[in-house]
Amino acid sequence: MVKKIGWTIIATTLLTLLTMCSTESRNIVQGELWLDTAGNPINAHGSGMLYHNGVYYWYGEYKKGETILPEWATWECYRTDVTGVSCYSSTDLYNWTFEGIVLGAVTDDPSHDLHPSKVLERPKVVYNAKTHKFVMWAHVESADYSKAAAGVAVSDSPTGPFTYLGSFRPNDAMSRDQTLFVDDDGKAYQFASSEHNATMYINELTDDYLQPTGRYTRNFIDMSREAPAVFKKDGKYYMISSGCTGWDPNQAQLAVADSIMGEWSIIGDPCTGTNADKTFYAQSTYVQQVHGKKDLYIAMFDRWNKTDLEDSRYVWLPIEFDNDQITIPWREEWSLDDFE
Ligand code: GAL
Repeated sequence: MVKKIGWTIIATTLLTLLTMCSTESRNIVQGELWLDTAGNPINAHGSGMLYHNGVYYWYGEYKKGETILPEWATWECYRTDVTGVSCYSSTDLYNWTFEGIVLGAVTDDPSHDLHPSKVLERPKVVYNAKTHKFVMWAHVESADYSKAAAGVAVSDSPTGPFTYLGSFRPNDAMSRDQTLFVDDDGKAYQFASSEHNATMYINELTDDYLQPTGRYTRNFIDMSREAPAVFKKDGKYYMISSGCTGWDPNQAQLAVADSIMGEWSIIGDPCTGTNADKTFYAQSTYVQQVHGKKDLYIAMFDRWNKTDLEDSRYVWLPIEFDNDQITIPWREEWSLDDFE
């Protein structure tokens, strides 16, 4: 009898465990290892997201392999070899399918921007409704971070392959941490930390999104803002950014503007709760609005592990809007189901 009960308990426990494993994930847990649908860690850092035809595409730096600090380094320019830009797809923002490397490294030409010896960061992809092309901009660098340029690639499909078109300094200015933003009128802009990261440029892009038009503004002059993440709500433009301390966390800042090329004003640090003054030990990268939800915007951050960059983790938090007050409160764990 005792033996029988023992077996029943073991069988029930096993069944529960199996059910838990097969149940699709429904929670976002900060800094946890996040597995894709094949069971591998999601490897997409400094990411950007694209919502297209009901599917979310998550693009990021595929940081594979050893983290290197070059012998000549005078600062913590930890890097991994360039392996390319990864893409994952999802319809629910929890369960992500690896779509592969959509822009790969170029291994046979040491002078190429995408050679493993270089640096490839913060890829962002937007869709151009006029040309029906998917356009990627990324920060391309030399190993010593002196190149400070933007690389552009293009594809007919959100899952690539992307064709690399080359790199340049938009409006002849340095371009490091960067993001893209497409406004409701279809005009696109690149936000980039420029002038040795001291000043944030907003570069208007041509109708095909492949180049700057020549029209740009200099913002947050000498304030050293990095990691721009831009979103629009109720006709106003917002930018979350970080300070400039390499891979180490610092305080986030929110800024607002009535017009994208107009005056930006600083609101302050939107983060609240545990370790808010260090952006929860993370750094901004993107803000994604959740479709089908009322005013749910997810602020996406990287929790860098500078000596093992491949193992850097993700912090995703809902932005809270309370009349004029915009905050990003710390939540250890949350679910999209918590929001209408
Ligand atoms: C950070 C930047 C990262 C990476 C790093 C290199 O400030 O946001 O994208 O460039 O510096 O140290």
